[in-house]
Amino acid sequence: MEQLLNYPQIQSNKIPTHVAIIMDGNGRWAKKQGLMRIFGHHKGVDAVRGAIEFAAEIGIKYVTMYAFSTENWNRPPIEVNALMKLLVDSIEKELPTLMKNGIRLKTLGNISQLPGNCAEQLFKAEEQTKNNDNTTLILALSYSGRWDITQAMKKIGNDIQNGLLDPNSITDELIGETLNTAQYPDPDLLIRTSGEQRISNFLLWEIAYSEVYFTEVLWPDFTKQHFLDAILDYQNRERRFGKTTEQIAK
Ligand code: IPE
Ligand code: IPE
Ligand code: MG
Repeated sequence: MEQLLNYPQIQSNKIPTHVAIIMDGNGRWAKKQGLMRIFGHHKGVDAVRGAIEFAAEIGIKYVTMYAFSTENWNRPPIEVNALMKLLVDSIEKELPTLMKNGIRLKTLGNISQLPGNCAEQLFKAEEQTKNNDNTTLILALSYSGRWDITQAMKKIGNDIQNGLLDPNSITDELIGETLNTAQYPDPDLLIRTSGEQRISNFLLWEIAYSEVYFTEVLWPDFTKQHFLDAILDYQNRERRFGKTTEQIAK
């Protein structure tokens, strides 16, 4: 594959199709420099750009980035407002990067909860990038795994009540199809930065068999080299999906 010329260490037949990233540590990064937390978020946007460029370069088809959780609404209003403004500004500013790298933008989460101009900007960017087919960038915003599972259960419950669904026909496929992530394959690799080793209500259903990679690097410091390290680590793992090594080797 020509696009891997820059990264001969990568095995081109073992590129994860979907990488999910919990971008954590912006606040601590800023604190270390004696700056306000929002500066960490600003620097974090540069790391997002590097990560999606790298993903497009090596042919990762889907990247889901956790940008704002349901629980993040409980942060001080000054930080929430600054983050929303940063989001709107960044989408506008980064559109050329998305177009240049053939990246399609999608959102995941309770977008109606975002301030009016955020939802509008996101919708515009989704429209403008919808024919890009290199990599899909899924921005998880006002998202949590439990929120998505809850809305899926409501839909399924309604269908049962309306006589459209027999409870005995509920399968794990049906639940997966009812989630807002239905159109994407499950993540192969989940990365979390900043040394925290937890999931924080990210893709709970979808990460059932994801490989998990934790790094101490704070998100604003996360470079293409760090992303490459994660990919190389992933490529050395054996994914067994409950089977034995002997079965996998066949
Ligand atoms: C991640 O960085 C970005 C968001 C949650 C929006 P944090 O803001 O959580 O940074 P830390 O964890 O406090 O360092
Ligand atoms: C998870 O990070 C959410 C995002 C990265 C958007 P948090 O910083 O909010 O998670 P906790 O509170 O440390 O678990
Ligand atoms: Mg954090």
